[in-house]
Amino acid sequence: MANLRESGLATNTTQEEYDLESCILPVNQLYSPALGIDKTYPRSLKLRLLIKNALYELLFWHNLMIEHEIKIPASPAASYRITIGTGILDTLWPRVEVDFRRYHPFVVTDENLVSAGHLHKLLGDKSIPTFVISPAGEISKTIDTAVAIIEAMEKAYLGRDTLVVALGGGTVGDIAGFAAAVFKRGVPVLQIPTTTLAQADSAVGGKTGVDSSLSKNAFGAFWNPSAVAIDVATLTTLDERQYRAGLVESVKHALIADSEYFDFLENRLDDVLERKPDVLEQIALWNCRIKGRVVEIDPIEKNHRRSLNYGHTIGHAVEAASGFDLLHGEAVAIGIIAAGLIELELGLSEPGRLERIRMILEKLDVPVKLPKDLAEKDLIDLVKRDKKAINKWPRFVLIGKIGEVYRQDEQYAVDVAPDVIEKVLKELY
Ligand SMILES: NC(=O)c1ccc[n+]([C@@H]2O[C@H](COP(=O)([O-])OP(=O)(O)OC[C@H]3O[C@@H](n4cnc5c(N)ncnc54)[C@H](O)[C@@H]3O)[C@@H](O)[C@H]2O)c1
Ligand SMILES: [Zn+2]
Repeated sequence: MANLRESGLATNTTQEEYDLESCILPVNQLYSPALGIDKTYPRSLKLRLLIKNALYELLFWHNLMIEHEIKIPASPAASYRITIGTGILDTLWPRVEVDFRRYHPFVVTDENLVSAGHLHKLLGDKSIPTFVISPAGEISKTIDTAVAIIEAMEKAYLGRDTLVVALGGGTVGDIAGFAAAVFKRGVPVLQIPTTTLAQADSAVGGKTGVDSSLSKNAFGAFWNPSAVAIDVATLTTLDERQYRAGLVESVKHALIADSEYFDFLENRLDDVLERKPDVLEQIALWNCRIKGRVVEIDPIEKNHRRSLNYGHTIGHAVEAASGFDLLHGEAVAIGIIAAGLIELELGLSEPGRLERIRMILEKLDVPVKLPKDLAEKDLIDLVKRDKKAINKWPRFVLIGKIGEVYRQDEQYAVDVAPDVIEKVLKELY
């Protein structure tokens, strides 16, 4: 039967055969009413098929085209383990060797992790091929760095049985994760995040990528880690400004998902700022649980995952308008206040809520107002360019109360009129 079909000679195909053998048929047969419309189909589907048939008949009636459909099996469900502790870097490697015994490790890190001693803590004197990104930071989050990493793996004769180990902040994690996603069509990656931002956010959830000269994360892939190891002791060497800015993602998680977590952050912020390990372990777990729950439900951001963009629509615009002088978390802090002001405008906020949020951000010493030199018109322009904009206007994530995202028709990002945004931006100066 399949041969006949491939030669285009088969004619009276039943729906059952079509389902069984997939459609190796000339297109005018494939969409012929006799084949496509079965009495078991619901009415709306019948109508859609009829319209489709008519269109295809119109477009292709004189052409005998062959179409063949390949069914892609749904990927099997998978999971990965997140380990959290203090000082675990020193003893992690033997465990990596056991858990990934069939793999050859390749470490990606950056120069600051080397000088802070974290690479040595991880590897000791073992000779493991390592790529050290230099200069550290966003400036190196480019396709050239990803290519250099991939070529370094090739030079080390590594193949599909490579384990990429990403030791560093979000930039190292994103670049190494992306290189792992594309090297030999994908090899596992172990994420070892070392910043407050990466431990709260970027190491979990599988987004990887590098920037183009025009925009952030222009090249990217969803590539979940095979494991994540969080050593909160690595945070002791992180510079104060980076440390505080990264904590804004924790505030975001609390706001969108857990009022108890928000209370905890309010009450224990001094301990967090003193970098007390037990508190840092607790917030790491809280963050991983919250982000984990969201990405389990919606791994590729169809709807629920958008809730993680709370404060980010205005935040990204502010970050870009500042020429990236503001750190991501600092810009998101302003974005969170903007979201709070929008919620007030739309009657979604209860008295005192915005003050509580402002207080926690002020205590983190991150900006809660727009820098005077940012032009409002540039910001509106950048908001329009948001990568999730539809018809040049994005949707916004808002909360209905602390710990709960406001939803409209089950959507986690909702329409907000441009005049509301303009008003809010004016109030932010
Ligand atoms: N993949 C995701 O889901 C996701 C989410 C949020 C952000 N990101 C990305 O994360 C990146 C920002 O990450 P980041 O804020 O961690 O910045 P980063 O990785 O650039 O680190 C900031 C600086 O701190 C240094 N550093 C890192 N850990 C250190 C430590 N323990 N001790 C001393 N110095 C240390 C780094 O070398 C760097 O100079 C951005 O590129 C952003 O796009 C990704
Ligand atoms: Zn963020």
